[in-house]
Amino acid sequence: MTESMSLVEAFKQTQYQIAGNGRRNIQILKEAFEHIDDQQDSDMYGNGEIIEMFQKKMATYLGKESAVFFPSGTMAQQVALRIWCDEKGIKRVAYHPLSHLEIHEADGLKEMHHIDTLLLGDESGLMELEDVLNLDQEIACLLLELPQREIGGQLPDYQTIVEISEYCQAKGIRLHLDGARLFEILPYYQKSAAEVCGLFDSVYISFYKGIGGIAGAILAGNQEFTQQSKVWKRRHGGDLISLYPYIISANHYFDQRISKMEQYYENAKELARLFNSCPFIQTKPAVPQSNMFHVHITRSKEQVEAIFKEVYYETGIGLTSYLREENQSSVSFEVSVGDQYNSIPKDKVQKAFQSLQVKLTE
Ligand SMILES: Cc1ncc(COP(=O)(O)O)c(C=O)c1O
Repeated sequence: MTESMSLVEAFKQTQYQIAGNGRRNIQILKEAFEHIDDQQDSDMYGNGEIIEMFQKKMATYLGKESAVFFPSGTMAQQVALRIWCDEKGIKRVAYHPLSHLEIHEADGLKEMHHIDTLLLGDESGLMELEDVLNLDQEIACLLLELPQREIGGQLPDYQTIVEISEYCQAKGIRLHLDGARLFEILPYYQKSAAEVCGLFDSVYISFYKGIGGIAGAILAGNQEFTQQSKVWKRRHGGDLISLYPYIISANHYFDQRISKMEQYYENAKELARLFNSCPFIQTKPAVPQSNMFHVHITRSKEQVEAIFKEVYYETGIGLTSYLREENQSSVSFEVSVGDQYNSIPKDKVQKAFQSLQVKLTE
């Protein structure tokens, strides 16, 4: 029955999915606009009540002097690093080898801004304080990504961030936070966003990860920094005449989901325990530190695909729509917990994992 179907097709037919906030469809936009006044004016080239109010709200939430709304995090972060490089007159920054800028942005920072990068730490682990202390070249800025997405959303302990921050301040190195998933890590640290952001000179946050909006980012810092970022936003073509579809949806889903991050975190830990109870499966990290983790299965892609499709068909529960082939006998995929998980009856979740355990053992 399921043999001819691809994994993604089988996944689409499931009644429930364990991860995320639901399908990215038109309904997401409609819901965000449902209670918005028809007469509300749009923003115009970065000005207007709608954008200014949201920027103020986010600056306050992050404990920063000022904030600017950007269409994407990719743009916001390249701009941030460019500003810090210009300030110091050094075109070099440092970040983790698997940072978003290094592996997902087609070298935008290097090609467009001619900024060199130093890769700090080992690919398979977190950047350590030692890596920063051992820097042998001058840099204008150090970027920390919290959580480190490509290694399953791992986090350093809080004291390490404090020490890195103190060191950078003493050395005149700007510290920038890639906080694409900042909201999602606050339950682990038991800190407010403002407390975490207080350790950084500049911060980027995203509205379409745990928050589940359409797209968009905020870049925050002091007045002088955000003023310059507006100029760079224009140069990058990011000053769209109106950004309100993104702003309204970001605001709507921020209000709706910001208080649910603790629940997502607890659910991620529960879900990781279920995966880890299956043979040949290990999650990374073993105990999630945010709402996300990676699942590693030491079976071939073909085997896992066949097993997953059977589980989806039998139980109506979708575990993932894709598998990344690590090598011939191992696959992985990412899980980011959102609203979906709590909408699944617990007995159905149990059944899906029992079925997975049996099939992996056969
Ligand atoms: C850690 C991290 N940084 C930056 C970005 C870039 O965000 P955007 O897609 O808004 O450009 C992403 C997007 O996935 C991300 O995961």
